[in-house]
Amino acid sequence: MLVTSNLALTSANLNGLTLKNRLIKAGTFENLSPNGTPSQGLLDFHKQFAVGGVAMTTIGYCAVENAGRLNANMLTMHEDFRKEISQLVKGIQSQGCKVSGQMGHCGAFSKNHTLKTRPKGPSGGLNILGIAEGMWFCDAMTLSDIDHLVDAYRNAAIFMKSVGFDALEIHFGHGYGLCQFLSPLTNKRKDIYGGSLENRLRLPLRVLAAVRAAVGNDFPILGKISMSEGPRTGISYEDSISICKALDEAGIDAIIASNGTSTMNPMLMFRGDSILPSLLKYEKNRLMRFILRLMGKKMFPSLPFYEMYLLEQAKRIREVVKCKMVYIGGASNGDNFTQILDSGFDFIQLGRTLLADPDLPQKLAAKPHYKSRCTHCNQCVGTIESPQGIHCPPFFDGSRT
Ligand SMILES: Cc1cc2nc3c(=O)[nH]c(=O)nc-3n(C[C@H](O)[C@H](O)[C@H](O)COP(=O)(O)O)c2cc1C
Ligand code: SF4
Repeated sequence: MLVTSNLALTSANLNGLTLKNRLIKAGTFENLSPNGTPSQGLLDFHKQFAVGGVAMTTIGYCAVENAGRLNANMLTMHEDFRKEISQLVKGIQSQGCKVSGQMGHCGAFSKNHTLKTRPKGPSGGLNILGIAEGMWFCDAMTLSDIDHLVDAYRNAAIFMKSVGFDALEIHFGHGYGLCQFLSPLTNKRKDIYGGSLENRLRLPLRVLAAVRAAVGNDFPILGKISMSEGPRTGISYEDSISICKALDEAGIDAIIASNGTSTMNPMLMFRGDSILPSLLKYEKNRLMRFILRLMGKKMFPSLPFYEMYLLEQAKRIREVVKCKMVYIGGASNGDNFTQILDSGFDFIQLGRTLLADPDLPQKLAAKPHYKSRCTHCNQCVGTIESPQGIHCPPFFDGSRT
């Protein structure tokens, strides 16, 4: 029976899109698109959240062009896949759930061995992720590469709207392409795209403007950012407040305030147990396993988990922007949801909470204080390399995908 006093289960509007409740499945790269083609497993993966009652699910890491893929098993938003991607989106929507697509580009950080050229980002240097694949280096983008990247986002947005996505989420965080431009650690450019924060924001704002022009004013665009990168000289909490103000003024509909980067400090994104054992369990490349053994303890330290671990910092952004705010990070139970929404947030994205309990919204309807089974052991993180796709090993063996 629906408990209507439960705010998390009440409907809300996101730039004209009605969401039946405030719970959104966060983008979690699924590894269910072998060689870039969406599989039945990808549809089944998202259907479980749709059937379980979330208002909207997010298809993780939809690369805006082939060169934007981190690895060869990522989706590309391209005409070649129109039939498969449109079937995927419609199949999820048929279960009464909206579908958002996370627009991503890896920039200088890739292990996609099908690429014929070096990955490109704001500045040249080492491509740490690609070392095990023999892709040691990345190059700095030229001004025409930057124009090309903006076009790639624009074309991907046109394509994504035309295949039926209900919303788009631009990935500005976690160390990927646009984040590399925002970050003083990875952006060493001396031209109008580097240096001051105003310059480092130039490309992300051009991308937002291009996506907006592509989809029109009445279509929801969300943006996911990292509030800090971890290292002292990277994006700071103060920077992220300015970044969010700029995105807000440029007309973004909602901001998702995440933390850390996949490249430098993923534990800030997750907290909980170190992701190292899980990465080692699924990593097949011997050189990468050696690197993980050598550096993993330092790169992925366990961090004490506490519920809603990003709330205090995210509230600082809530205070300065007019757009909708989506909370993410350790939202684990009905009481958390109420507290988050009472703090002025409009929606809540859930990653691990839903991997452990795909039908959490239904459970919440029956029990308003329901607490997710997720223990923040982070065993799911390494499953992004699992041939069965991502899953939550303590509760699922992966075969349902
Ligand atoms: C297996 C896995 C894969 C993920 N992949 C992505 C991704 O593709 N894009 C992204 O923005 N975040 C990704 N994340 C991060 C989540 O979206 C989210 O920011 C993080 O898990 C914290 O939220 P939670 O406490 O609700 O899990 C991933 C998380 C997990 C566990
Ligand atoms: S493996 Fe399952 S229980 Fe562990 S953190 Fe991931 S979702 Fe939570």
